[in-house]
Amino acid sequence: MESSSQEISVQDEAVDKSQFKTCKQIAFYRRQKHLCPGKSPYQTLLKTVELSNSNLKFQIINEESKVPLAVEIYEIEGNIFRLKINEVNPLKPRYEVPDVLIKEPASLRLKISEKDADKLVLTGPEQEQQIHIMAKPFQIQLISKDEILLSMNSSGLLYLEHLQSPPQNRKSTSQEKESGLADSSKENEEDLGLWEEKISSFLDIKANGPSSVGLDVSLHGFEHVYGIPQHAETLLLKNTSDDDVYRLYNVDVFGYTIHSKMGIYGSVPLLLAHKPDQTIGVFWLNSSETLVEISTKAAVKVLPSKTPDISKQRVVPQTDVRWMSESGIIDVFILKGPCPFDIFKQYAQLTGTQALPPLFSLGYHQCRWNYEDEEDVEKVDAGFDTFDIPYDVIWLDIEHTDGKRYFTWDKKRFSNPEKMQKQILMKKKRKLVVIVDPHIKIDPLYTIYSQAKERGFFVKDRNGEDFEGICWPGLSSYLDFTNPEVRQWYADQFDFKTYKGSSEIVFVWNDMNEPSVFRGIELTMSKDAVHYGKWEHRDVHNLYGFYQQMATAEGLVKRSGGLERPFVLTRSFFAGSQKYGAVWTGDNKADWSYLKISIPMLLTISIAGISFCGADVGGFIGNPEPELLVRWYQAGALQPFFRGHANMGTERREPWLFGDKNTKIIREAIKERYSLLPYLYTLFYRAHSVAEPVMRPLWVEFPKELETFGIEDEYMLGSALLVHPVTAPKISTVNIFLPGPQEIWYDFRKFRHLEGHGILKIPVTLSNIPVIQRGGTIIPLKISVGKSTEWMVDVPYELRAALDYKGCATGELYLDDGHSFHYLHEKQFLLRKFSFYDNVLSSRCAGEEGLFQTKCIVQKILILGIKKEPSVVTTTKFDGKDDKAVAFAYDTKNSVLTLQKLSLNIGNNWELRIK
Ligand code: NOJ
Repeated sequence: MESSSQEISVQDEAVDKSQFKTCKQIAFYRRQKHLCPGKSPYQTLLKTVELSNSNLKFQIINEESKVPLAVEIYEIEGNIFRLKINEVNPLKPRYEVPDVLIKEPASLRLKISEKDADKLVLTGPEQEQQIHIMAKPFQIQLISKDEILLSMNSSGLLYLEHLQSPPQNRKSTSQEKESGLADSSKENEEDLGLWEEKISSFLDIKANGPSSVGLDVSLHGFEHVYGIPQHAETLLLKNTSDDDVYRLYNVDVFGYTIHSKMGIYGSVPLLLAHKPDQTIGVFWLNSSETLVEISTKAAVKVLPSKTPDISKQRVVPQTDVRWMSESGIIDVFILKGPCPFDIFKQYAQLTGTQALPPLFSLGYHQCRWNYEDEEDVEKVDAGFDTFDIPYDVIWLDIEHTDGKRYFTWDKKRFSNPEKMQKQILMKKKRKLVVIVDPHIKIDPLYTIYSQAKERGFFVKDRNGEDFEGICWPGLSSYLDFTNPEVRQWYADQFDFKTYKGSSEIVFVWNDMNEPSVFRGIELTMSKDAVHYGKWEHRDVHNLYGFYQQMATAEGLVKRSGGLERPFVLTRSFFAGSQKYGAVWTGDNKADWSYLKISIPMLLTISIAGISFCGADVGGFIGNPEPELLVRWYQAGALQPFFRGHANMGTERREPWLFGDKNTKIIREAIKERYSLLPYLYTLFYRAHSVAEPVMRPLWVEFPKELETFGIEDEYMLGSALLVHPVTAPKISTVNIFLPGPQEIWYDFRKFRHLEGHGILKIPVTLSNIPVIQRGGTIIPLKISVGKSTEWMVDVPYELRAALDYKGCATGELYLDDGHSFHYLHEKQFLLRKFSFYDNVLSSRCAGEEGLFQTKCIVQKILILGIKKEPSVVTTTKFDGKDDKAVAFAYDTKNSVLTLQKLSLNIGNNWELRIK
C-alpha cells in the first residue's frame, strides 16, 4: 500500500469497538425509554375521521399535551396494510423515505362497517379481515378470521417528538412536559440529547431538537421472528434487554463481533414472524438510525368479541416488537401473507425484486486487497487455467487507483489497463471488477473532485461548507448521492469515454459507503451534515449506500446504451437494494465461527429481499488454516454470491496454494457450482420475477414443521437442494435435519435415497459437504464446465430428476443470453418446465412463450427413485413423430435410471417414455 503522508494505513484505522455507541449512549433511546409501557396517552378523535377512495384519515390527540397527530390508514392491493403517523402541522416537513418504494402503492377503498364512541371497524376487500381502531386509548388491531393477528400501540409506546424552532427562542414545549423532559437545566438537556448530543469529542447539533418516533407492534400467536438485517447474529431473532437491542445503523465495523445486535454495514427494517399457519411481515420504512426491541412472552388470547368469553381464553405466545427511529415519520407496512412466499411477493411489490444478474456474476470471483499490478493479474488469471479451476472475475481493490482517486489507474502498476483487459481477460472470456468508493480525495487537480466541488455535489457540514472526513485517500469530501443530479453525473462517470481505461468487461464494487469516515463519530458521517433538500444526514443515513449503488448500476446500464445488465456489489444497503445488484457481509474473519455465522447472516439478508448475497470466502481478516479455507469454498460454492477475498497483509490464498489434495477439493467445489449454474440462474430468474429468495431457511419451504423454525446450520438452495455446510474442523459426521415425513431425500452426488426423516447422522469427509436433493424436483445442470461461464454456453445439459413418493417430479429452466436486457424487451428468453408423471418425462414451455433460440441440447437424464427396471425407453417429439428407443442403464441398488447420449433440444417440446 502507498504511504504518502496523507494516506492512512489500515493498521492505524483498525476498529476500536468502543468507538460504537451502546444503546445507553443513544439519546433518542434514552428518551423513549422514559415512556412506561401501559396506557397510551393518545386518543382517537373519531369526529375527525375522513374516508376517501384511497385511505382513511383521522387525528389522534395526546391527552396530556393536547397535541394532535395525523393518522392515515391504507389497505393496499395484495393483502398489505399501511399506517402513517405524522405531525399535523410540523414546523417543516419531516423526512419521508423516497425512492425505496418502486411506486406509490395502489390502495383499495375501505368500508366503515361499525362506528361507536369507542371503536371504528373497517373492512377491506376480504370480509374475514377487519381493522379495528380503538379510541381510548388509540390502538389498531388487525383481525383475521375473528382473531387478532397484530396490534399497534397496544403497549402504549407510540411516540413522536415534535420538531421545534432552535433553542434561542425555544420555550419548554408540551412535548417535553409530556415525557417529563421539561426540566430545562443545561445538564438535563444534555443528558437526554435534546438539542445536542456529545460523545467524546464529537458534537451532534440537532437543528430542530429531538425528532424521534416510535411504535410498538404486537404479533399475536407468534414466537418465531426473523429478519431486520444486518447483524452478525442467529437466524431467529432473540429477545432483547435494555441496552442490548437490535440496531439498524450502517457503520464500518472491521472484524465485527459475532453474536452481537450492533448495527453493521447494511439495514433492512423488515421483520418476519412465522407460525405454522401464518407468516406476517412488518416493514418499518424509516432510513434514520433505528432500534428494535423484541420480547416474546406467553399471553392470554383475547377474542375480539363484544362480550368477553372467559372460557375461550387461552395462553398463546406473543411477540412484542418496539420500533424506534431517530427522525422521519411513522410509516409502517404490515404484510399479511399468509404464506412465507406471499410475504416475499408483498415486500417485492413495495420495494422491487432482485435484479437479474448477468450470468458471469454467478460464477466464481477472485479478489484480494490487492492484486498488485498487471503482471500479478496475469499470473493469477493463468493460475486458474494451470490448475483447471473455472473462474469468471478478477477484482482490483483500492491500490489499483492513482492515490485512491477512483476512476483512475495507478500509472506504474496498471500502465495499460486496456491491454490487460483485452489481452488477458477478454481473450479468456473473463471480467474485471474495480472498486469505486464514495469518498473523493480533496485535490483540485483530480477532475472528479473539481467538477463535483464546482457543482456543489458534496454533502455539506452543518455550517454549509463541504463536509470533510478522512478515508483511504486522506482528506476527502463525500458525494451527495441523495441528489438525483449527483446520481446522474456520477452515472455518467462510468461512460467508456470518461472512465479512461475501462471497457465493457469492467464492473463495479462500491465499498465504504455507510459512509465510512475514519475518525468520524462511530466511523461515519456526522448526523448534522446536510444533504440535498436540506435534509440532515440523520434522516438519510441508512440510505447512503443504497443511493451510491443505484447511481453506479444506472451508470453501467447507461454506458451500454441501455442494453447490458450491470453488476455492482455494495457493502452498505437498505430496503430495495436488491434492485441494484449484490451485497456481501463485509470484513469477516478467517475463523470457523465466522463461517458458521455467515449462514444465518446470509439467510436473513435473503429473506429481507436481497437474494444476491455472499460472505468473503476464507474470511477477510487473518489467514485461514487450509481446512477452513476448503470448507469455506464448499459453503460459498452453494451460496448466491461467491467471492474469495483477503485483507491486505494476509498470505496469498489463491485456491492452488494449499497442496494438491486441497486444490483438488476446492476445484471440485467450484466445478460443482459451475455445473449447477443453470439451476442457480433459474433461481435468480425466480427471485427477479416472483421474489423467491434463492437461499432460504428451511422453515420457508416447510412452514408447518416446527422443528425447522430455528434451523440455521443448513438451508435450501431453491426448493430442490438442501445444503449443510461443515463449519467446524475435523468433523467426520454431521447431524442433518431432513424435513417432511412426506418427503424423500436423495444424496445429490451418490444418488442414494436417504432413509428416514428428522435428524440423520451422516458421515462426511473433507472432500465435500452434504448436499441433498428433494424428491419431487428436477434440477438442470451442465454436463461439463469450462474456464468461465462464457465458455459453457453450448455445453449440453443434464436433467436430474428425483422422484417423490408418488413417483413424480417437476423442475424449471430459465435461459437467455446471460447479459443483456433483451429478455425483458424482446422476449429473448426461454422458460422450460420439466415434469415427470406416470413414467413420462416431458419438456414444455412454462408460462409465457419466449423467443430465445439455442442449439443447446439435453444430453443426459438421470432419474432417481425409479423402482423398477424399464424394458424400453423412448423419446418422442410432442407432435408424436420421431418416436425412438434410447439406450439406458439401470442401477438396481440405488434405483437410478441413466440415459446418456440423448440429443433433445433444450428449447423444444419432447417426451421421454419409460415402459
Ligand atoms: C473494506 C472492505 O470491506 C474490504 O473488502 C476491502 O478490501 C477494503 N475496504 C479495502 O478497499
